[in-house]
Amino acid sequence: MTEAPANPLRAGIRIGPTAGPCVVVIFGATGDLTRRKLLPALYRLAQQHLIPAEFAILGVSRQQMSDQEYRAKMREALTEFGDEDTFDEAEWNSFADGIFYAAGEFKDGETYAKVKSRLKEIDEERKTQGNRIFYLATAPEFFGPISNQLAQANLARPEGQAWTRIIVEKPFGHDLESARALNTQLASVFEEHQIYRIDHYLGKETVQNLLVFRFANSIFEPMWNYQYIDHVQITNAEAIGVEGRGSYYERAGALRDMMQNHVFQLVSLIAMDPPVSLKSDDVRNEKIRALKTVRPIPVDRVDEYAVRGQYGPGQVLGETVVGYREEPGVDPNSSTETFAAVKIKFDNWRWANVPFFLRSGKRLQKRVTEIAIYFKEGPHRLFTDNDAPLEPNVLVIRIQPNEGITLRFGAKLPGQAMRIRWVNMDFRYGSSFGIKPPEAYERLLLDCMLGDSTLYARRDMVERGWEIVNPIIEAWKKPASDFPNYEAGSWGPPAAFELIERDGRKWRKL
Ligand code: BG6
Repeated sequence: MTEAPANPLRAGIRIGPTAGPCVVVIFGATGDLTRRKLLPALYRLAQQHLIPAEFAILGVSRQQMSDQEYRAKMREALTEFGDEDTFDEAEWNSFADGIFYAAGEFKDGETYAKVKSRLKEIDEERKTQGNRIFYLATAPEFFGPISNQLAQANLARPEGQAWTRIIVEKPFGHDLESARALNTQLASVFEEHQIYRIDHYLGKETVQNLLVFRFANSIFEPMWNYQYIDHVQITNAEAIGVEGRGSYYERAGALRDMMQNHVFQLVSLIAMDPPVSLKSDDVRNEKIRALKTVRPIPVDRVDEYAVRGQYGPGQVLGETVVGYREEPGVDPNSSTETFAAVKIKFDNWRWANVPFFLRSGKRLQKRVTEIAIYFKEGPHRLFTDNDAPLEPNVLVIRIQPNEGITLRFGAKLPGQAMRIRWVNMDFRYGSSFGIKPPEAYERLLLDCMLGDSTLYARRDMVERGWEIVNPIIEAWKKPASDFPNYEAGSWGPPAAFELIERDGRKWRKL
């Protein structure tokens, strides 16, 4: 059999850099996040030799268990959530030798004494050199107590040449005030450079590609401003509902769960100016500079800028589903929004008068996250007797699924007449590179081990996200009188369409 010709685009696909020795201490070691994301990601990194032999995981949670029992649990997690095709028993066995467990309450000082002595043993056995990542994969009410306890047990500051870092999961605060309090609290224990606030959207390959697309190409950047761009739409649609997380979601809602963090990260990458280098703080400085210029939404005029929705029963992808209020753990009169649409504007030169329309929702027609840049029409309309109205040029960056980039433009329809059809030029990640991009958590965990915080949210960024949504949070404290206001499987409430149509634009048909 002849071998398929090698894909030249794949040459140089990243292997390395490899992380140095370290222990990842996971608080919330038996939880959903650890089983679904962290353990499979760490295992994949080990399989790709991106973490060294001098590596270990120490799981910490309440349940009593031996190391062996915990290893068996993690093995099950991998069967459930890992990649079946690449699983290898021998590789697993050697990886599992580095998995340890310590039982204890997160608020109890004894737990940390135990963690400390186990870390000492592990350093000796696995030669992990005192380097540690503390991963807070717990409910948010434990973030503060765990970091305090780590400080009291003298675990927060590294010794000698070693390093200590802490990864904090979302939700990072519940509003501006609580986010500030949490930041202040973490800052009393750790230096900012030790703190890694995770936003898994930043680990997505296509999100990272935004930097490359904008700043490694010269054709778009000169047009990336108010002179050429009419408006920007960001859609984050999910087909899934709350997936058994009703009680968490009741306190969150779409604005807190998706908009304040993930969607604003996308906004900042689109709106930012070029950074002076790719150094973590240079990139993050530009992102925050852009977000700082977002015009505050007046609390008494929130309705002009934001729309909330909640799904009722319906059909999603051929399946009949219950409404949000019927989900387990949800108040039957809940006013929590499962959909949010927001219009933002910037008070800066680049984006003067260019609205950004953002929407995010659960139980919409399908799963799609994309950024659409709508360009302005040219200065003079030449093709006036065309049979179809002129459409705008649109650049679409598909974050997921079918990751890729499409440019929509007019082309002459073959024939005697001068007629225009709108066509797409399409780049698809999957078929071009022919490989599955790494999971967001793989990239982010590896970056933390390497000490690179570029793809993590800095303190000012998190607080700015809250500052922008705060007036909306305030206004939405008032119970919604029209919930549920969209059918599961639709594209959200009618008011979301009105929001954009009032401005003479339309949501892209997806
Ligand atoms: C999480 C939210 O941060 O992101 C979930 O808490 C949401 O509610 C998820 O479903 C979406 O992530 P992704 O990667 O599937 O778009």
